[in-house]
Amino acid sequence: MTEKEIVETSEAEIAVHWQEEDYYHPSPQFIAQANMTDPSIYQRFSLDNFPNCFKEYADMLDWYEYWHTMLDTSDAPCWKWFVGGKINASYNCIDRHLAKNKNKTAIHFVPEPIEEKYEHITYQDLFVRVNEFAALLRDFCGLKAGDRVTLHMPMVPELPITMLACARLGVIHSQVFGGFSGTACADRIIDSGSHVLITMDAYYRSGSLIDHKKNADVAVEHAAKAGQKVDKVLVWQRYPGKNSSPTTMVEGRDYFVNGVLKDFYGARVEPVPMPAEAPLFLMYTSGTTGKPKGCQHSTGGYLAYVAGTSKYVQDIHPEDVYWCMADIGWITGHSYIVYGPLAICASSVIYEGVPTFPDAGRPWRIAQDLDVNIFHTAPTAIRALRKIGPDEPAKYNYHFKHMTTVGEPIEPEVWKWYHKEVGKGEAIIVDTWWQTETGGFLCSTLPALTPMKPGSAGPGMPGIHPIIFDEDGNILPQGAGKAGNICIQNPWPGAFQTIWGDRNRFVTNYYARYCKNPDSKDWRDWPYLTGDAAVEAKDGYYRILGRIDDVINVSGHRLGTKEIESAALVVPEVAEAAVVPVAHEIKGREPDLYIALKPGFSASDALAKKISDAICNEIGKIAKPRKVWIVRDMPKTRSGKIMRRVLGAISNRKDVGDVTTLANPDVVEEIQQMVK
Ligand code: PRX
Repeated sequence: MTEKEIVETSEAEIAVHWQEEDYYHPSPQFIAQANMTDPSIYQRFSLDNFPNCFKEYADMLDWYEYWHTMLDTSDAPCWKWFVGGKINASYNCIDRHLAKNKNKTAIHFVPEPIEEKYEHITYQDLFVRVNEFAALLRDFCGLKAGDRVTLHMPMVPELPITMLACARLGVIHSQVFGGFSGTACADRIIDSGSHVLITMDAYYRSGSLIDHKKNADVAVEHAAKAGQKVDKVLVWQRYPGKNSSPTTMVEGRDYFVNGVLKDFYGARVEPVPMPAEAPLFLMYTSGTTGKPKGCQHSTGGYLAYVAGTSKYVQDIHPEDVYWCMADIGWITGHSYIVYGPLAICASSVIYEGVPTFPDAGRPWRIAQDLDVNIFHTAPTAIRALRKIGPDEPAKYNYHFKHMTTVGEPIEPEVWKWYHKEVGKGEAIIVDTWWQTETGGFLCSTLPALTPMKPGSAGPGMPGIHPIIFDEDGNILPQGAGKAGNICIQNPWPGAFQTIWGDRNRFVTNYYARYCKNPDSKDWRDWPYLTGDAAVEAKDGYYRILGRIDDVINVSGHRLGTKEIESAALVVPEVAEAAVVPVAHEIKGREPDLYIALKPGFSASDALAKKISDAICNEIGKIAKPRKVWIVRDMPKTRSGKIMRRVLGAISNRKDVGDVTTLANPDVVEEIQQMVK
């Protein structure tokens, strides 16, 4: 193999040979109750009926003013949906349900400590709490439509309450995953230009009450250094009236929400009718370069798409108890814990802690207690539960009719365990493939209509038309047995509108690759590049192989390799850093970190720890490297490019291939010895 081939052969081009799995069919009982049993839906949402097919989803919502233009392509590829429409997301998720369902539980909150009671928040409770908090945001913080607010909150009901209060005012929320560090939070405060940070003093994780307020102090300080002043920090209390964090409150900046809320008792805030196109929230995600991208999601299009898919793919009925075990700090939680389910008046479960606390039976006890019948989680959690408590599900009396897997490819073996043990052979499974950018599902089976196939996400969703291109832009047909770059041919209402403040990056990253004509206003000329490699089987099912860019999927969460490498370079001794993904039984992938030191420094365990700690500090524990390998030199091409592929092969104990054309082949052998 020549050096050129080593460098340029992408994962997307690798031929794929795997055994076709057999179909699994839904039971007649499931089909009898399903929300969507009409096979003509695929016809109704075919490309011939695009874009008008999406009226069906828009009509699931209440509009102040009905839209006049379904899809406006004049600013391609920034598509506008339901133009002319006025809508409010908070109204659609709460107010409109009150007449018939004010008594119904909107949110079942399960605290992590087993001795704490479940909390059942009705739609009426949610209405009251969202209104009072919206009044506080408006009158105490001076926030108005279009302002951005950063949230750094754990998995507690106050998080959706905060989101919905923002939405009520048209304020754009940007929730940062609670497990991220103060510095990561600061980056997002700066990029979004937030003047208000909303956080919580503490929360439970694996049995301990974690001080979270301290992250806010770090975030505000870092943001200030970059010129972004945070005027107010609103601190929810894990135990109202009691401070659970040892970190002191800064006079005139930090306020306990519960204290200030007393002034807003009984306040009601009219939902602000927002243009369908107004941004509802930002969700930051990792990309190939260091800076995270603020994916900007719309109000009308997004809400229509997540409402429609919650109804047809999640198959949520009014009487169901639905539990998505994701974190609301990720897109899955936004779309399929909060906005989608609440828009269709579901009862949605929020669990504060880790699934394996205090033991691997916890999720199944929660399911039994609440009589959960729809369950939604990621392969990483399924693998962990399978490893630690393979026999636990059978001990509990719960029955799922429906289960979801999301976030990364699921191995057929793990899928089968999920189906047999967790689903007790009764539940159907949907493997939903999508992204932060896409707002909702791209590929999945429709549970009563298309059979399941372990390891495959299934066909494109109704109205979503995937296409696989090779590196040269040729279409790879069904059953080609070759993987390529999977793209979506057409726009859809759930898609993000742009990257906050960076339209160029939006166009370059997602639309330039296979664009037929950059001046075109015709959506047909602008396929959306997902950045995933996939293969399409003869039956039109897509199997997703993973990212083709420099993103590592750890436990279903995207981490940019550049982000981790940049964090390592904060340590003064570090000259070069390279991150590679290593296969991990539970997490899917883990980052392995290779480091070359500046001259005059030598390797030590203490230094390795310092580097690892720096990464946890900068990004969060989720990015903690499996191992920090301090090497004499990085394997490099003659042009000086670090050969991450070679390091990846070493970390994964795979053949490194021909390295004789490298600038320093000797170092490869040396690193191999070390990693052994
Ligand atoms: O590589 C795909 C993988 O996760 C990426 C998106 O990550 P994120 O934006 O964090 O959103 C995760 C939740 C939607 C995708 O580009 N991915 C997501 N779902 C699947 C998947 N890979 C295989 N199968 C899936 N079901």
